[in-house]
Amino acid sequence: MSDPGLAEKLVKVLHRPDGDLAMRPVHTIGISATGYFKPTPIARNFCTADHFTNEKTDVIVRFSNGSGCAVVHDGWSDVRGLAVRFHLSDGSDTDLIAMNLPEFFTPTPETFLDFAEAAKPKLYTGQTPWQKIWSYLQLMLPERDPYPGETISPDEGAIGFADRNAYSQLGVLQAAQIGAPTSYARAAYHACHTFIVTGAEGVRRWVRFSWQPIAGVLNTDPDETPVDDYLQAELRERLAKEPARFSLMMTIGEVGDDFNNSSRPWPPHRKRIMMGVLTLNAVPEDQIEQAEKLSFNPGLLTPGIEASDDPVLKMRIDSYKISSAWRGGSPCPFSKG
Ligand code: HEM
Repeated sequence: MSDPGLAEKLVKVLHRPDGDLAMRPVHTIGISATGYFKPTPIARNFCTADHFTNEKTDVIVRFSNGSGCAVVHDGWSDVRGLAVRFHLSDGSDTDLIAMNLPEFFTPTPETFLDFAEAAKPKLYTGQTPWQKIWSYLQLMLPERDPYPGETISPDEGAIGFADRNAYSQLGVLQAAQIGAPTSYARAAYHACHTFIVTGAEGVRRWVRFSWQPIAGVLNTDPDETPVDDYLQAELRERLAKEPARFSLMMTIGEVGDDFNNSSRPWPPHRKRIMMGVLTLNAVPEDQIEQAEKLSFNPGLLTPGIEASDDPVLKMRIDSYKISSAWRGGSPCPFSKG
């Protein structure tokens, strides 16, 4: 059990003036889709969880824009999310929540609170070339240029924080350059934290999951004036024509890798196992009940998958529960009973 006071503070600090208290404080704009997950034949050797041992598992997913702004700005540079809920054969569910940023901003919930306070969105004009040179001379990250029409952004505060706290530099640099995908189905999403999976022979492995789009990763051109609202229509049109697919990749950590700090990457040559394929083929009609009200939680796991000791992962369990209750979401799985 994490510190509920801190879990609440985290939800409060994430709410922004252009957000909406009846919606999520982050990943506010989103759309759900349904389909199924099929594991690869080798997946069960590495993880005995229901969805890796059954032939096919139904899923509902929610794609989202990371920003807490309640107005759609699909074309702006922003982190995107993919939350997947697997409906397991015994009637229970398990969630895997991911975003298109491989590493998180901070190693602990306490430092994330400081980060979120520093990175509150401000009016955004970018820097002049001279200011950028001055930043480089001081070995500081310069700010990126705003997208055409982009007026507010967390980037200035986030970059200032990263300049003061080296652990944040990787996440902040990646987020500042992330851009806008041409489609929710054309981004790669990472669950960031380490989980522990148990394989067929009882072997436990420390792993990180990510979804790779079969259609490939593709961003919009940052020099073109962005369209504000295209991602949801694009997904509907895409799924009406053909399914969207993602491979679930599982990277196996080795001794010396950081298992409890999702702001630190693992070496790129770690063994990766293809665990299965997610196929999305429909967009539910009732997006209020089937997307806006849904409450995902990174702690909703199932036998065969355990949380690591990452303190950020543990704190998220309570923060998501609180956030879901405050916005009137369907009960968070951890609120039942
Ligand atoms: C201390 C760290 C974090 C805090 C406090 C936090 C907080 C939150 C909150 C309050 C929500 C809204 C939940 C709801 O109302 O249902 C949310 C949503 C979300 N977060 Fe986080 N988050 C954290 C880290 C992360 C990380 C590491 C990831 C990626 C692996 C992530 C990805 C997402 C996504 C994709 C959603 C949208 C889920 C949906 O569609 O319902 N977050 N976060």
